Formats: sequence, C-alpha cells, structure tokens
Amino acid sequence: MAKIYNIAVIKGDGIGSEIVDEALKVLDATSVKHGFELNYNFYLMGGAAIDVFGEPLPSETLNGALSSDAVLFGAIGGPKWDNLPRDKRPESGLLKLRKGLGAYANLRPAMIFDELVDASTLKPQVLQDVDFIVVRELTGGIYFGQPREKRDDSAFNTMVYSKFEIERIAKVAFDTAMLRKKQVCLVDKANVLETSQLWREVVNEVAQNYPEVKVDFMYVDNAAMQIVRNPRQFDVILTENLFGDILSDEASMVCGSIGLLPSASIGGKVGIYEPIHGSAPDIAGQGIANPIATILSAAMLLRYSLCEKEAANSIENAVKMALAEGYRTKDIADFGAKEICTTSEMGGIIAKFIGKQ
Ligand code: IPM
Ligand code: MG
Repeated sequence: MAKIYNIAVIKGDGIGSEIVDEALKVLDATSVKHGFELNYNFYLMGGAAIDVFGEPLPSETLNGALSSDAVLFGAIGGPKWDNLPRDKRPESGLLKLRKGLGAYANLRPAMIFDELVDASTLKPQVLQDVDFIVVRELTGGIYFGQPREKRDDSAFNTMVYSKFEIERIAKVAFDTAMLRKKQVCLVDKANVLETSQLWREVVNEVAQNYPEVKVDFMYVDNAAMQIVRNPRQFDVILTENLFGDILSDEASMVCGSIGLLPSASIGGKVGIYEPIHGSAPDIAGQGIANPIATILSAAMLLRYSLCEKEAANSIENAVKMALAEGYRTKDIADFGAKEICTTSEMGGIIAKFIGKQ
C-alpha cells in the first residue's frame, strides 16, 4: 500500500495562492513518480482569515496544522490589513502558528544556481562556491519576549532567551554542520547584549559534543558586511530570531532573487515550509511571481517532514533542469532566458522535468 501523507496547505495572501498552486502541481508529479499519496487540506491564515473569521490564525487552521504531517505555506500580509493593531495583523497569525507548532528552528539555505550568477548584484568571482545556511531561532527573542508595550510617547520590547532555547537550536546548527562543511558561525551582538553573552556560553558548551566542528563568533554588524564581502567563508550561520530575519533577506539577494530561496521551520510537532519572500501584493494576480522558492520549500518538506529524500532530490533536480534550459520568470528574465514564463508555466515545466528524470 502506498504511503499517504496529510499536508495542511495555507496559501495566504497576495501571490500566496499562485505560488502554492505551482508547488502542489510539482508535489503531485513527485508523488506519482515516487509512489506515495499526498492528501491536501486547505486552511486560511493571515489577511484571508481576517476577512472570513476576524482573526489571522483561526483555531481550525492551527488544529488542522497540528494534525497534519507537514504544513506548506505561501505568504501573508498586504496593505488592506496594515492598519490593524499588531495582534490582529496577518503576520501575527504566522508567528502564532510557528509558536503553536513549536517550530523553533528555521533553516534558510543560501545557494547559488550557476545559471543565475549574473542575477546577483555581487560580482561572479565573489559568488563562486557560495553555499551556506542560516539557522535562525524562530520562537523566542524579541519577537515574543514580555513585557512589550506601545505607549503614546514611549514603547518597549524585550529580548529574552533561556539556556534551553539556545541549546536546542545550537544542536540543530551543529547537526546541520556535521552534514556539510563542519563550520558554525554564531552571529550575535555580545559586545552589547546580555542575551548574546548567554548565547556564546551555551554555544561553547554544545560545541564540546561536536569536536569536529569549527566554531567561530561574529558580531551581527560585521556579519552583515561579511555576507556581501565574502559569502564563501560561511557554512552554517547560527543566530537569534531578529538577526536571522534580517540576515536571511540579505543572503537571498546574494543569490540573485528573493524568489528562489526556500525555508523549513522545524523542531516541533509539525514542520512549516515556506518561501522566505513575502506576499508581494504589488504583483499579486498577474501571474508573474516566481514559484521556485515555494517549490523548493516543498522539496524541504519532503526531505525533513516526510523523509522522502529521493522525491526531494527530484524536485531540486527538476528546478535545476528548468533553469539550465533557460526557462525564467520575469524577476530573473534578464539572466540567460531562452523563454520567459508565467508562474503557472514555470510550475508546469518543473513538474514535467520531474517525470523526465
Ligand atoms: C519571515 C518574515 C516574518 C518574520 C514576518 C512576516 C513576521 O519576515 O519569515 O522572515 O519576521 O519572521
Ligand atoms: Mg523576514
């Protein structure tokens, strides 16, 4: 009997539904090829959920996600919901989902596709052999710390980390490094922040269990500079929630387009897989969004949550084949395009290449 997996699908807002549809197309082609069944259940989150339920994360969505094998998510947010109070905004739906699923480890790989080297604003020689991953703590730090308050003439947030929270994400970073180039760089602000001092202590302790891994430490301002100066020096960048948010956007530009990079949020009961880009309301509905980041997120879903490694490889290969053949969405059209395609055409082409391997 074929294995059956239940996937909670959250398309979200803006370009979310267009890009997720393409990832589903590719997943379907993959399940046929590799002999398993995917059962999709669709849920609302973000602005789409606010419009229907009055809240960004309805309990139906959280429960549906909790009872699935994995969550595939598009993007949320848009100008329509920008003036709502923070707790009612679309983004707070995503933060509550991450917290609710216990997805504390956010993996954001930064890789270069050879065909798209020119799409980066950096010189090709700087990009050679760039291959690193940001391991971002996702359910702690200043995003969630209490107390927090906005007053009329002042406001405050709290950055707080426990040893337990740092330990578990550090282990993810070291385990990840063991499968790669065996280097971890902790990015922090230990010259200013007590939380960063604790991160250094705990990471040094965890490092004792990984004698093969080389560990170094870098202040976040310097790291922001080093990522554009010499990105090749990094293997695993381990960092806290806010720094990881910022540095992973920067890393995506090193790679040429934010439309290319996937992410996995794991560690808890159920993993969430989403592109690192946002809902791009300015181009929503035009059929020009790049679905590759979401398609590669689906590959991460297969790899990390379903342990379908071969199927994950097929997706990654199919993306490489589509790019090698010169298929490009508009965002990367200037770089080696033989044929410019719509969002849906790109999904179809990648799905076709799954069958051709
Ligand atoms: C991301 C996003 C989110 C974050 C927003 C939408 C809350 O920027 O996934 O990087 O800050 O984590
Ligand atoms: Mg971000």
